[in-house]
Amino acid sequence: MTRAAVIGAGTMGNGIAHVFAQYGWEVALVDSAAGALDKATATIRGNLDRQVKKGTIPAEAPGEILARVKTGTSLDAAAGADLVVEAASENPSVKFAIFEQLDRIAPPGAILATNTSSISITEIAARTRRPEQVIGMHFMNPVPVMQLVEVIRGHATSDATTASVMETARTLGKVPVEVHDYPGFVANRVLMPMINEAIFCVMEGVATPESIDTVMKLGMAHPMGPLALADFIGLDVCLAILDVLHRGLGDDKYRACPLLRRMVAAGQLGRKTGRGFYSYESGKGTG
Ligand SMILES: NC(=O)c1ccc[n+]([C@@H]2O[C@H](COP(=O)([O-])OP(=O)(O)OC[C@H]3O[C@@H](n4cnc5c(N)ncnc54)[C@H](O)[C@@H]3O)[C@@H](O)[C@H]2O)c1
Repeated sequence: MTRAAVIGAGTMGNGIAHVFAQYGWEVALVDSAAGALDKATATIRGNLDRQVKKGTIPAEAPGEILARVKTGTSLDAAAGADLVVEAASENPSVKFAIFEQLDRIAPPGAILATNTSSISITEIAARTRRPEQVIGMHFMNPVPVMQLVEVIRGHATSDATTASVMETARTLGKVPVEVHDYPGFVANRVLMPMINEAIFCVMEGVATPESIDTVMKLGMAHPMGPLALADFIGLDVCLAILDVLHRGLGDDKYRACPLLRRMVAAGQLGRKTGRGFYSYESGKGTG
């Protein structure tokens, strides 16, 4: 396999395209919004330049890597792909429509992967006539930096598809971990209850956000505290994932903290709106 199509050129899509191209794949990067493609190309260039400065890739590499990324707004670009990685907006109806089209467009042998954080792989796969070739390939943000790829088997995903995607992740310099398709997979099922509990601690006045993050950073050796991480992920995204866990697993231990719900209702979504548990208005996080 050497030809990839990446659908969605936002935060994750540009990073996924970057990594595939860096490891020699021809990449078709598709986004329905043309503006997102220009922004993605600029982001990839900036990140490649940073890698040159750090000495992790040679000075001539960015040009060669970028030349392997072709951008476009039509899913038809998936017609030549061995592997498609969908990283479009986290909305079930958007993903279902994309997979219905990809099933018609991509070659019969192609694997269709999704980078979804919380939508059922099994439900996405059921929209295609090749559910055994549909799988979750959950990269972490920022993709060029983070080593983990959660490889999520849907109910019908075959052993061959899983083995192929695990191997592909390794050839991209990543460490793949095989997991099964239950709400939140592993990463978010373990992470989100921790973040939620940290928010309960804020709501109940157990400690300030800074103190809670300090406990987890210095006490548990986490590189980032749970509240700073929630701001980074986006509080709306955290709430949506907690709701998926609560609904999908039916256990009240996953109920979202009322303070999280209130902050989302107020439009305080974290870094992207300039305010969450910390303020980013001056460009630097402060309490
Ligand atoms: N941001 C993260 O930290 C993170 C981490 C892991 C996984 N994810 C998952 O990755 C996926 C993408 O997240 P993101 O943060 O990059 O989102 P984003 O909003 O930054 O980018 C999504 C892109 O998809 C495009 N898009 C929407 N509908 C489309 C369509 N029909 N066809 C083609 N492109 C379309 C949008 O124009 C946008 O550019 C989501 O499923 C999300 O859950 C995100």
